[in-house]
Formats: sequence, C-alpha cells, structure tokens
Amino acid sequence: MNVKDLFIQFFVSKNHQQIPSAPIVPENDPSVLFNTAGMQPLIPYLMGETHPSGKRLCDYQKCVRLTDLEEVGDKTHHTFFEMLGNWSLGDYFKKESIAYSFEFLTEVLNIPVNRLAVTVFLGDEQIPRDEESAKFWRSHGILESRIAYLGKEDNFWAAGETGPCGSDTEIFYWRSDEEIPENFDPEDDRWVEIWNNVFMEFNRNADGTIEKLPKKNVDTGMGYERIVAVVEGVTDNYASSVWTPVIKKIEEISSLPYKGNEKSMRIIADHIRTSVFIASDPAGIVPSNTDQGYILRRLIRRAIRYAKKLGIDINSNWEQDIAKEIIALYENYYPEIQANAKTVLKVLVDEKNKFNRTLEKGLKEFEKIVAKNTQIDGLTAFHLYDTYGFPIELTIELAQERNIKVDECGFQKHFQEHQEKSRTASKGKFKGGLAGDGEIETKYHTATHLLNAALKKILGPDTHQRGSNITTERMRFDFNCDHKLTEEEKKQVEDLVNEWILKDFIVTKEEMSKQQALEMGAEAMFIEKYPDIVNVYKIGDVSKEICGGPHVNRTSELGHFKILKEEASSAGVRRIKASLE
Ligand code: ALA
Repeated sequence: MNVKDLFIQFFVSKNHQQIPSAPIVPENDPSVLFNTAGMQPLIPYLMGETHPSGKRLCDYQKCVRLTDLEEVGDKTHHTFFEMLGNWSLGDYFKKESIAYSFEFLTEVLNIPVNRLAVTVFLGDEQIPRDEESAKFWRSHGILESRIAYLGKEDNFWAAGETGPCGSDTEIFYWRSDEEIPENFDPEDDRWVEIWNNVFMEFNRNADGTIEKLPKKNVDTGMGYERIVAVVEGVTDNYASSVWTPVIKKIEEISSLPYKGNEKSMRIIADHIRTSVFIASDPAGIVPSNTDQGYILRRLIRRAIRYAKKLGIDINSNWEQDIAKEIIALYENYYPEIQANAKTVLKVLVDEKNKFNRTLEKGLKEFEKIVAKNTQIDGLTAFHLYDTYGFPIELTIELAQERNIKVDECGFQKHFQEHQEKSRTASKGKFKGGLAGDGEIETKYHTATHLLNAALKKILGPDTHQRGSNITTERMRFDFNCDHKLTEEEKKQVEDLVNEWILKDFIVTKEEMSKQQALEMGAEAMFIEKYPDIVNVYKIGDVSKEICGGPHVNRTSELGHFKILKEEASSAGVRRIKASLE
C-alpha cells in the first residue's frame, strides 16, 4: 500500500472522515488562482461553520504553488503536489494531533525516532511559548536537544493576510547518510520538514489584530512527494515511485538517460503533470492570456521548450504519451482525471500546435534581437510575447542563458495594459461562463440575472452567485446555500422567474464607475477583475448586476424558465441547471 492510502486508512481508523480533494481552482475564492494547501477549501469550517462530514476530517488535496516555478528542475521542487492532511474542527487539539503524527510516522511508516526532530513556537507578546507541544513531544521520546523553539516566521502559519491562523509545530526528518547529529539545527538542510501541524485557534483581521476563533482547530499538511521520497530513501524526489514511471517514459521518448538530463526531464515531468491536473479540473481551464489559463499556457510552453532541448521531435505524440502515463497514475484517486482525460489530451495538443507555429520564428527573432542588443527592453519582450507567444519567463530564461538582461518592469507595463483590454473584452466570461454570444446564449445570460435575483428573494439577501456556465442547451448557476433546496423553494424560485419574464421588464444598460456600481448595490462577481468603468444591467426593478452582457431587450423574449436539476456543487455551494423553453 502506498503512503497516500496508508495515511487515509490510519486517520479513518482514528475516526476521521475522508473528504474528497476539492477542485484545484478554488470555487468560492477569486483572490487566489489555485488551492495552495489542504486547508484552503476548509476555511469556512475553520472559522466556525459546521462541516457536513463532522469534526474529524482527512484527505489528500490537489495543490499548486507557483512561487517556486522557476526552481523546478532541481531535486525537490514541484508546481503541483498533493497534500495529505488531517483536521480537527473544534475536536481534539495539540495532544492528540501530536500523538497521531508520531504514531503514523513511527509505527505506520516505521521511521526511527532518532531520525526525527521538531520545532515549536517560541512565543511573542501576543501568544505564549508553546511549552505544551514540547511536553507532548517529549512524552513520545523526542529529546530536548531535538526540539527547537522558533519565532513567528517559522512557527506560525496562516494561508493569507487574514483568516484562520495559529502557531504550529513542524516535524523534521534527517535525510542524509551522514551521522545523525545529537542536536537539531533547523538551518541544516539535511533536516527536511515533512509535516506541519497548525493549531488554528485565531483569526487575523484586516488590520492585523488577532482574535480567538470560536473553536480550537488543528490543520495539518504533509507533502506527499516529499514523504514518499523519505520513505523510499531517495534524496531526489523525482527518483521516487511518484515519478519513476513518468521519467522512464521521457527517457524512452527522448532515447536519453535521466542521468545527465535531470533538469530538463524534471521540468517536463512536473509541468505536464500540473497541466494535466489544471486542465482536468471542473473549472474547465484552457490556455489563455489571463489568470489560470495563462499559467497553464506557460507550463505547457515551458515543457515544450525543454522537450526541444532534449531533441524530442516536438511534432510527435510525446506530450500525449507522457500525459497518458500521468493520467494512468492518478485516475484511480481523482475521478475528474479519468472523466476529462480526452479534454486534457486535446488541451495539450492544441496548445502545442499553437506554440509550434510560432516557436521557430520566435527563436529566430530572439537571435536577431540579441545579436543587435545588449539588453531586451520592455516593448521588445512584449513583442515576443504578443507575436510569438513567448511568456516573459521564457524570454528571461533564454536571455539568462546568454547573460543578457530583460526589462521585466517595462514588459509588465505593456502586459498589464494588454490584459486590461482582453479582460474588458472577455468580461462576459465572468458572468456567463464560456458562453458565446448567440441568441440563445444571450437569453440565458438574462435568465441568469433573474435566477440570481429570485434566489436572493426566496433564500435570503446573502445568497450570491458562485459560478455560472452557459451552453446553447442550458444554463448552470452556482450559489452559496447551506442546504438542499426543498421542492417548495425550487417551485417558488421557478415561479418568480417566470412571473418576472411575463411582466415583460425592460432590460437597460448603464455605464458607470465600479465604485458607483457597488454603492448602488449592483451584484458583482470577481469584482476586482472588472475594469474601472463597468456596465450595470438593470431588469425592471428586480435586478441590478455588473456584467459585460449581452442581454435581451425585454424579459418576455425569454419564454418559459424551467429548473432541470438542483444539486450540491461543493461544500456550501449549490448548483441549479435550468433551461428556457
Ligand atoms: N496548512 C498548513 C501548511 O500548508 C498545514 O503547511
């Protein structure tokens, strides 16, 4: 059995309920592109909401961290990783949390106690030194010389500037063949952190003050790739069983050995894997020039460049073969990987073809530029991006290989202007999913606003849109709601929308500043993604929403509105599918 299964089995045996991994693109949090920790989808519950699966939870969560993207290529960095986690939502606290971690590591994974060390919180003016955790560690046989007390930078954890947070205790493993030192030195990188247990008992406000949460929680996270490497006794994560089938496939495709080509092979393996996970996520991300789509584009293009470096025939099916290997490794753990396998393969090949068409020309252009210049200015870098599809990181990387500087700030200026324009052009996307602007889609757009308003009337003013998607066949609408709608509620919502349709309201559009729109109480999703000047669509006196449109002129054009299905979308979010007849 592998570590992932052992982990889940262990915590289930300790009365934890396994919960499925949340999507990699957060459903209710437009402030981050990707989930970066197992706790992220659980924030409302750490804040005090009741979780439907109880107070003891465990899972493996898909995570993407982009801060280290440039580091990928060494032994330990990845852009995607799985985080194993267990949670207590107001149930057990430090004692049990430490006991469970210790038991799992030493009795399930059979790690010798002598190879372990821990850090605990040193304390500051607000929160006392964590003597309690130290005491529990000692009770399990961890020597005092293996306990380090560190300050806020090291032993305090929060997902963001605000929200649930707390001091933590981190567990380290001696990952070296050299003799294990008696004293633990957290600065010595032969000690690697393997598990973080956060004692989330505080909430941080926007002004930086900290207050107690209603309940004391535990949030833990253990990086799967790292713990597998530890258990298997390798110092190169990519030499563990997590990666060996993928690396082997790349060796086969390139007819080159891993040894001597590690960097390129790791980058290809990592970037294709992350692309597979992003493209298979229910959010339906495709390569684009903004947000998650841009990350996906960057990853695929960077993988292509390194494949080229290895001499792989870019026009062959190399990326399909690698992706298929990855899909096979994960499909039993993540049903969406299997369900969306075809989409993933298509995303990869389409993006490859797109990039291939300009890559050669772009590389030639790049050579011309560096032959004539000692540095690459912002406009030139933007030209490489805009005309040849070179993400700035690619230009920088190529320039670095020749010791040439790139004016990244200058690039960012041009890039942002460009993004603002494309956001304005595609802002309908945020209201209407990936809708086209045909006649029927336009009707669904307007019906979406009516449904949003009706839900608010029937379920309460705090009901808001969480997502939306329109096809020619139906509309899909996600909204926050803590319960399954009753038949009565569904009927009330449906009737109200139809009543409004029959009233034949006029739909009007008004341009105003974002600020004005918010002040007049217009509904908005992803507000920070709209430009400063927005359109507010009003439907009679029942709905006001910031939206890119387009909309019908009068509600009577919509016909009859019918709810097809009401179901759970994710924790605290319900989904309605509806059609117009
Ligand atoms: N949320 C904690 C982390 O990501 C466990 O390290």
